[in-house]
Amino acid sequence: MKPRSPDYGTDGDPKAMPISFLAFVVVDAILFLLHSEILRVLAYLVLASGIVFLSFVLWHLLYVRFGKLRHRDALLSLVEWKGNENVLDVGTGRGLLLIGAAKKLREGKAVGIDIWRKQDMVGNGPDGVLLNAKLEGISDRIEVREEDIRKTSFPAEYFDVVLSNLCLHNISGKEGREAACREIARVLKPAGIAVISDGFHTRDYLGIFMKQGLDGKIIKGNFLSKSFWLHTVYAVKRGP
Ligand SMILES: C[S@@+](CC[C@H](N)C(=O)[O-])C[C@H]1O[C@@H](n2cnc3c(N)ncnc32)[C@H](O)[C@@H]1O
Repeated sequence: MKPRSPDYGTDGDPKAMPISFLAFVVVDAILFLLHSEILRVLAYLVLASGIVFLSFVLWHLLYVRFGKLRHRDALLSLVEWKGNENVLDVGTGRGLLLIGAAKKLREGKAVGIDIWRKQDMVGNGPDGVLLNAKLEGISDRIEVREEDIRKTSFPAEYFDVVLSNLCLHNISGKEGREAACREIARVLKPAGIAVISDGFHTRDYLGIFMKQGLDGKIIKGNFLSKSFWLHTVYAVKRGP
């Protein structure tokens, strides 16, 4: 029997895409059927928005199917790994960054936290990451905890590296995302590195980090890659 390979999951709400697509089709069909000149113009506009929406969906599915691992490798290559780091992956999902980081470690430990919201990833839950870790042969180097990044139980200055991909924009409200960034800054050791990749709000994240004693920059997604819409905050905590 063929051995199972790890599955790093499909990001997003499984119901949202088909429902939105169906809504476009139904609204457009009604507008066309009403035989009014003005509504016909509106119908073409809805059709055009539907095509743009569908292109984004297809691009997203390309990222999920073919771009994720490459994006993970690009994020992990921003850290000069020694092998003894304490690593935190925020919103680990099925362990994409957690397991990638664990593979770089000899003595350190990678901790993945998540609240496993069903609408953020298809079939979200801790079992997915534990199974992937087993399949990748690094179960002994990881720990998985159900924790909310807005307020964690970790002591201050605990992690050498904090990673996150496509998580923080899911937190509703500016205050919530700000609390998450402050928590990331708090648990990071002096000279520790934060690599936070997301589709939105990355400028806000960098602004909060800088107020919390980190220096950093934003690395824009490569337009030709399948993750072109993901920008990355790379920041280092001031200290020795
Ligand atoms: C789109 S998934 C991305 C998962 C993974 N990082 C990846 O790139 O494959 C976002 C994850 O962030 C988690 N999440 C959302 N809000 C969170 C919070 N406040 N604290 C911790 N995790 C959260 C969701 O449950 C979900 O698993």
